[in-house]
Amino acid sequence: MGGTGAGGGEMARAGKEKNTVEQPADANMIPIYIMNKLYYVPDGLTIMRAMEHAGYRLVRGVGCRGGFCGACATTYRVEGAYRLHMALACQDLAVPNMHLTQLPYFPARKATYNLEEIADPALQVMTLYPELANCMGCNTCNKACPQGLKVMEYVAAMLRGDLEEAAELSFDCVMCGLCTARCPAEITQYQAAMYARRAYGRFSSPRPRHLDERLTELREGKFAAEVEGLTKLDAAALKKLYVSRDMETPTGGFAKAVGK
Ligand code: SF4
Ligand code: SF4
Ligand code: FES
Repeated sequence: MGGTGAGGGEMARAGKEKNTVEQPADANMIPIYIMNKLYYVPDGLTIMRAMEHAGYRLVRGVGCRGGFCGACATTYRVEGAYRLHMALACQDLAVPNMHLTQLPYFPARKATYNLEEIADPALQVMTLYPELANCMGCNTCNKACPQGLKVMEYVAAMLRGDLEEAAELSFDCVMCGLCTARCPAEITQYQAAMYARRAYGRFSSPRPRHLDERLTELREGKFAAEVEGLTKLDAAALKKLYVSRDMETPTGGFAKAVGK
């Protein structure tokens, strides 16, 4: 992330010294503070787009732009209010008079392990992450999670040795680290949950039948000719094939993709 201070921010330098913000002539612009510097940005932008409008070139704190990678963890307060908000910059909208900064990295502990050498996966979570036992049930992690996950509950599930429940409750975790940044017990919830999902997947979840069927088909060479044909296509033919592929629709079922 690098700030130039250019763009929309140059259009106004409201009375910051007086701790008041003059409203811009254009009512569609809102004042926001990025790392304590005032900018005016169009209303309705995500925090990420607002930062870019203000002249920031994001080289850290950005990834998928779709709410999946967790790279854009952001914290902000609205001027005059006490509450600290946690957000994903690519998902949450900029609001007037917000003071924001990004946390593109949080120095959390990550245990290392080899799943093949684990005898008791449920017990092992306490060996790898003994600090889980320090959870005081304060609910701060739940309030911090921009995904709205039941973080405290998945921590409790790990403490009970219920890795299936922990895996289920943490499934939509994007590893942003905001829960860990706020935890008074200094627990690395999302890394422990990653272990829970891996261990559950490795030791307990039923092996899907379709996976075995597809592996058998691959080994028997069912797709060999098709793959061989693909390797002979040029870039234009590959592109045409790609854009006309079947795609899953949001309402279920499949539709043909429409390319440009
Ligand atoms: S913030 Fe930490 S101590 Fe509080 S409930 Fe969550 S894991 Fe437990
Ligand atoms: S559980 Fe923690 S790391 Fe995962 S999305 Fe929520 S706040 Fe981010
Ligand atoms: S950029 Fe990936 S979640 Fe925001």
